[in-house]
Amino acid sequence: MTRPTDRRDERDQPARSDFLTTFDLGDRDRLERLCRRAQDIKLGMQERRLAPTLSGRVVGMLFEKASTRTRVSFEAGIQRLGGGTVVLHAQTTQLARGEPIKDSARVLCGYVDAMVIRTHGQDIVEEWARYSSVPIVNALTDLDHPCQILTDALTIWERDPEPYARPWAYIGDGNNMANGYIALAGLVGLDLRIACPKGYAPDASYVQRAEDMGATITVTDDVAAACKDAKVLLTDVWASMGQEDEAQARQEAFAGFQIDQAAVDVADDPYVLHCLPAHRGEEIADDVIEGPNSVIFEQAHNRMVAQLALLEDLLGASPA
Ligand code: CP
Ligand code: NVA
Repeated sequence: MTRPTDRRDERDQPARSDFLTTFDLGDRDRLERLCRRAQDIKLGMQERRLAPTLSGRVVGMLFEKASTRTRVSFEAGIQRLGGGTVVLHAQTTQLARGEPIKDSARVLCGYVDAMVIRTHGQDIVEEWARYSSVPIVNALTDLDHPCQILTDALTIWERDPEPYARPWAYIGDGNNMANGYIALAGLVGLDLRIACPKGYAPDASYVQRAEDMGATITVTDDVAAACKDAKVLLTDVWASMGQEDEAQARQEAFAGFQIDQAAVDVADDPYVLHCLPAHRGEEIADDVIEGPNSVIFEQAHNRMVAQLALLEDLLGASPA
């Protein structure tokens, strides 16, 4: 007699791919395919003619850090495409009482079709991926924020027929967002300038890998030089989640590392992006967020359609 087993037979599983870093976008062709599909989904939503491509699919989401956009855009989007979600806050699970990831991952992948995870270390999403038989999506780690970077690429791609022809500049902390833009630069061959205070540089291995892929990455502490003639201006908070204790020291270190009107003026009528939440008056001036160059709220709305295109792709659910 054949007994059911709690191990999935790998031979019956389609090749699984995860989305753990921005490099996992793979190449420019896949990025453009995801952008096209995200735009189709957006149009389908506006015209109320969406096919329920995620019908019967359930996505688990695990949060070890706060979220507004990521959680709601995934949940609302998946429901709009006919799927379901289960949201877990880590502190209310057995993980908080010491259950190992390798056990949690093998259990949960028997219930859901993908796991979306927001956590601290990159090693944590990598461990989930090692033990899961369903795709793992990085919903932000200390190292990278690939769902946001995909969204930001979409936001520029929708507006600019040659999105990577002119330089992009990132002002502020060399954090997960900076690293993600560096990886994107590698994938598309971008001229990317990063302006950050000394001691707050982005991940050196990301810079090296992107340069090896053909990007031009400049790391400088000169904000005006970074912004000069740039077509896209990017920034993020000076103190990320988990760095609350450093907030005061960072206020001092980052003074002047701000997208203000002077930065916009020295750039080339730029698109201004911020992943949000923003600290107005710190990394970005209030009048820039509210000004004519800002595409920040469109960027936030694009989270939903970008992530749906990604999930369809990871789950083999894209329409033919
Ligand atoms: N940009 C972003 O990831 O926002 P949340 O932290 O609100 O999810
Ligand atoms: N760098 C920020 C991004 C928030 C979306 C953080 O990690 O807190």
